Amino acid sequence: MTRPPSDPPRVRLRDITLADADMLDAWDGERSAYNDFGLPHDPTDREALARGPLRTERNGQLMVELVADGRPIGTVGWHREMYGPNPESSAFNFGIELIPEARGQGYGTEAQALLVDYLFATTDVHRVEASTDVSNLAEQRSLEKAGLRREGVTRGAQFRAGAYHDLVVFALLRDDRDG
Ligand SMILES: CC(C)(COP(=O)(O)OP(=O)(O)OC[C@H]1O[C@@H](n2cnc3c(N)ncnc32)[C@H](O)[C@@H]1OP(=O)(O)O)[C@@H](O)C(=O)NCCC(=O)NCCS
Repeated sequence: MTRPPSDPPRVRLRDITLADADMLDAWDGERSAYNDFGLPHDPTDREALARGPLRTERNGQLMVELVADGRPIGTVGWHREMYGPNPESSAFNFGIELIPEARGQGYGTEAQALLVDYLFATTDVHRVEASTDVSNLAEQRSLEKAGLRREGVTRGAQFRAGAYHDLVVFALLRDDRDG
């Protein structure tokens, strides 16, 4: 396992609970431009949260919180991406959103490194990936610092704010870590 960029870690990931629902709804109204797709802000699904953690075989979401005082500072989420019809050809694609006051302090890098560790430790996927807008230099740097490798540009893949945007793809393979 790769060590998180900060040792000891300053952030940790935990399951989201029903008690987080109001806070998530408030955060949803303040999404960064990179995570705002102009879709309606549906309230957090409290029935799903009451049933248990937001984690399935196909996707999931975890809270990012500060180790020092337990303060929640954002979320990470992932979904399965299929590169072929067989289970071996699936990867996990993840994303992150920190609240504005928590950005620029290295927490995002730590959280993403922890999520990569978590996904490799709890599933058998061979590939974990993330894409971000070519203009999102903070996320590109953060993904690099979290240990992912830059692979290339997916042109015109994402429609946001009235235009198509190019994305930079980053990934880490299980083999990259074992080698
Ligand atoms: C993107 C995000 C996760 C990064 O996490 P963070 O904790 O803010 O970032 P970090 O402090 O870990 O690291 C950011 C790195 O990018 C660099 N950076 C920040 N802004 C930059 C800019 N405009 N140009 C170049 N580099 C920049 C920082 O200097 C730092 O690198 P360094 O440590 O080598 O100096 C966080 O800012 C966030 O949640 N932003 C809003 C949501 C978002 O953009 N999510 C990704 C969408 S795909």
